[in-house]
Amino acid sequence: MKILIIGGGGMVGQKLAHNLARTGKLNNQAIKEITLADAFAPPALSTPASFEISLVTADITNADIASSLISNKPDVIFHLAAVVSGEAEANFEKGYSVNLDGMRNILEAIRLTGNGYKPRLVFTSSVAVYGGPYPDVIDDDFQLQPRTSYGIQKAMSELLLNDYSRRGFVDGVGLRLPTICVRPGKPNKAASGLFSNILREPLVGIEAVLPASKSATNIFASPRSAVGFLLNAATLDTAPLGDRRSMMMPGVWGTVGDEIDALRRVAGDKIVALIKHEPDPAVEKMLSNWNFPNFSTDRAKALGFRCESTLDEIIQVHIDDELGGKIPGLNT
Ligand SMILES: NC(=O)c1ccc[n+]([C@@H]2O[C@H](COP(=O)([O-])OP(=O)(O)OC[C@H]3O[C@@H](n4cnc5c(N)ncnc54)[C@H](O)[C@@H]3O)[C@@H](O)[C@H]2O)c1
Repeated sequence: MKILIIGGGGMVGQKLAHNLARTGKLNNQAIKEITLADAFAPPALSTPASFEISLVTADITNADIASSLISNKPDVIFHLAAVVSGEAEANFEKGYSVNLDGMRNILEAIRLTGNGYKPRLVFTSSVAVYGGPYPDVIDDDFQLQPRTSYGIQKAMSELLLNDYSRRGFVDGVGLRLPTICVRPGKPNKAASGLFSNILREPLVGIEAVLPASKSATNIFASPRSAVGFLLNAATLDTAPLGDRRSMMMPGVWGTVGDEIDALRRVAGDKIVALIKHEPDPAVEKMLSNWNFPNFSTDRAKALGFRCESTLDEIIQVHIDDELGGKIPGLNT
């Protein structure tokens, strides 16, 4: 089993690679090789692996480079590379180049390989493909009307995935990821970053600015669940998907206020006091475009996708996976 992770230097890509290195298997088959490809040199994994891990610097906006990534015919390709929402809004050309042209370059590289080559291609789409006005509950049949360039690029990539799958060039699965929270490491340029920042920084004793109202809503899953989604997508029977290759992943719906309440239950008042409310009209305007209602994710659940059921659990996953089971902020 040969695996390619494009965007393998990013947050989700690194989590996935560590998991695969630890287990050494996918779908009960031994992994022979993993390639981590990213626009910058992906960091070497600290988790020891029983197979070869190649670290490749590759810009998928270049069709020849995208093609070189496919030349060893990986059995499973995780396409996670993207310019995230805030940056795709700020830099129109870069967003289309990476998020749309990059996807097309990968699909074309696969198609042109020919000779019956038909890998599983797991693509990370986003909850950002949705736009209001919303019904009370969004299900997988709700029409896509994204309100950001990022959401439009993801929606177009989903259509490409449907068509290349329908034509038999790839076996695609598209995952509309909820906001992955708590995002470890440094903040990135995703507009949704604040939902993680207000949890992550206080837990280690650092003040965090909340630039939005407490009523701002989102749908969340932990990085651990995101890896679970990807592994399930890589191994599930795709026959039930038909020509609709993408679906919303399960998540926990909540407001910023719900997040703060969960943080108080898990970590206490001292930690919550580190959140400083400084409303920023630009952030509030962007979030008003989202304001998601709840989601029905029955289709994904029937296919075996699972995540946490409360925000408390999501925070606890972060404490266990990133902070060694402790809350350093309580000691500062
Ligand atoms: N993290 C979330 O909350 C979330 C939510 C919804 C969807 N997603 C999607 O999931 C995927 C992974 O998210 P993440 O949080 O790990 O993002 P990330 O920003 O940490 O990782 C994305 C990686 O893509 C790489 N990349 C950008 N341009 C590239 C190019 N031209 N060629 C090759 N690599 C390039 C970046 O260098 C980065 O390492 C993305 O597709 C993202 O849109 C993430």
